Amino acid sequence: MESKRKIFIETHGCQMNFSDSEIVGSILVDDGHELTKDLKEADVILVNTCSIRDNAEIKVRNRLKQFNVLKRNKPGLLVGLLGCMAERVKENLFDEEKILDLIAGPDAYRDLPQLLRKAEGGQKAINLILSADETYADITPVRMDGNGVAAFISIMRGCENFCSYCVVPYTRGTERSRPHLTILKEARELFDKGFRDVTLLGQNVNSYAWEDAGQKVGFAELIASIAEISPMLRVRFATSHPKDISNELIGVIALHPNICRSIHLPVQSGSSRMLWEMNRNYTREWYLDRISAIRKAIPDCMISTDIISGFCGETEEDHKETLSLMENVAFDYAYMFKYSERPNTLAADTKKDDVPEDVKSRRLQEIINFQGELSLESYKRDIGKTFEVLVEGSSKRSKSQLSGRNSQNKMIVFPGAGQEPGDYVMVRIVECTSATLIGELV
Ligand code: SAH
Ligand code: SF4
Ligand code: F3S
Repeated sequence: MESKRKIFIETHGCQMNFSDSEIVGSILVDDGHELTKDLKEADVILVNTCSIRDNAEIKVRNRLKQFNVLKRNKPGLLVGLLGCMAERVKENLFDEEKILDLIAGPDAYRDLPQLLRKAEGGQKAINLILSADETYADITPVRMDGNGVAAFISIMRGCENFCSYCVVPYTRGTERSRPHLTILKEARELFDKGFRDVTLLGQNVNSYAWEDAGQKVGFAELIASIAEISPMLRVRFATSHPKDISNELIGVIALHPNICRSIHLPVQSGSSRMLWEMNRNYTREWYLDRISAIRKAIPDCMISTDIISGFCGETEEDHKETLSLMENVAFDYAYMFKYSERPNTLAADTKKDDVPEDVKSRRLQEIINFQGELSLESYKRDIGKTFEVLVEGSSKRSKSQLSGRNSQNKMIVFPGAGQEPGDYVMVRIVECTSATLIGELV
């Protein structure tokens, strides 16, 4: 039985998962199905999941409980689990979550039409095969929930860094780069459709490497070629690994005003001893040196980071080093997490998760509080400055207020004068909160 189904896709986790959901959407629409944003009218629910921390998985399991209620009232409803948690927990999920009809790992999305047919026929359908070369290079993602101005472009998949705490190398497999020309083509098409801001995505974009007919393209060349599509196209990237953010890349950013003045450089810890235990392949000194190099070449660059608190063996001294590094760099923004042990990672197999829960919580709170101060100072420093803002839409609170971002990726709200999403305007900042700049047109 072939049938056209209404498919609801829910995404958890990182930007790469959001980008993958757009690929999943595209594959299913090509197979004749339709996407819906209304859970109630869906006859297939696909949950694209994350495994990065234990609470990410708990959230997914709670969500499945809610879908159970829907399924009771609509017996033909199919529920599928996609992404990293599918890849990590594997077929056990069918025993643990009776609601599931379908399971597909991150490299198995081309198989979704077949898997759906099998599930429709009443069989449990599963594909968890990881690939060494799948990049979905030829698939044009359906842009979901977007504003028509900003979009993600996946440029590589997988990760082979094996940071000792991290599950990603196991859930996403071998690192592989997408062919250069398919990325360029996607970026050009987005620009032609009116998009003005693209983010190049990968777990470690600095290791992007594509070889074609003897010609090698690295990340610095790739990003330069995208920036050269048009000065009206803003280009961002996430994430880069501190161990290989090269002077060449910093130079390329400095040279292209439309490569955004915003670098996300996850540090994880300020203690070289912890960084060694985490298998990060750099030291505190190396990280600080990279920050100086960025500040020197791109003085108006915003720098954000990720921090893990309470990793195995972390002492009060190590924790203080993280706080002092934060002060030293004065991060504009940070994502901060409590260490969560992930089964079968290097840390889980060889180290003790020995920082007591209350100590982890207290240290994390100190980090969050301090970053709050640093972020507010960063926003306050912008008062009186004028920025070029790319309009993305109207502000959540009022239609006459427009919102958009500057090159530094900060959200700016200002009273509009008929501008449309995709327009560039100059805005002077008059006040701020710790997460938004408020300005007026100049
Ligand atoms: N590839 C990116 C990070 C992807 S995961 C990079 O290396 O920078 C996003 C963030 O989640 C990481 O930077 C880290 O701070 C956090 N994270 C990863 N594993 C974690 C774990 N087991 N417990 C807590 N936080 C974790
Ligand atoms: Fe995880 Fe490290 Fe790879 Fe980032 S670089 S995804 S933290 S293993
Ligand atoms: Fe989560 Fe997988 Fe991304 S574990 S952070 S969804 S790569």
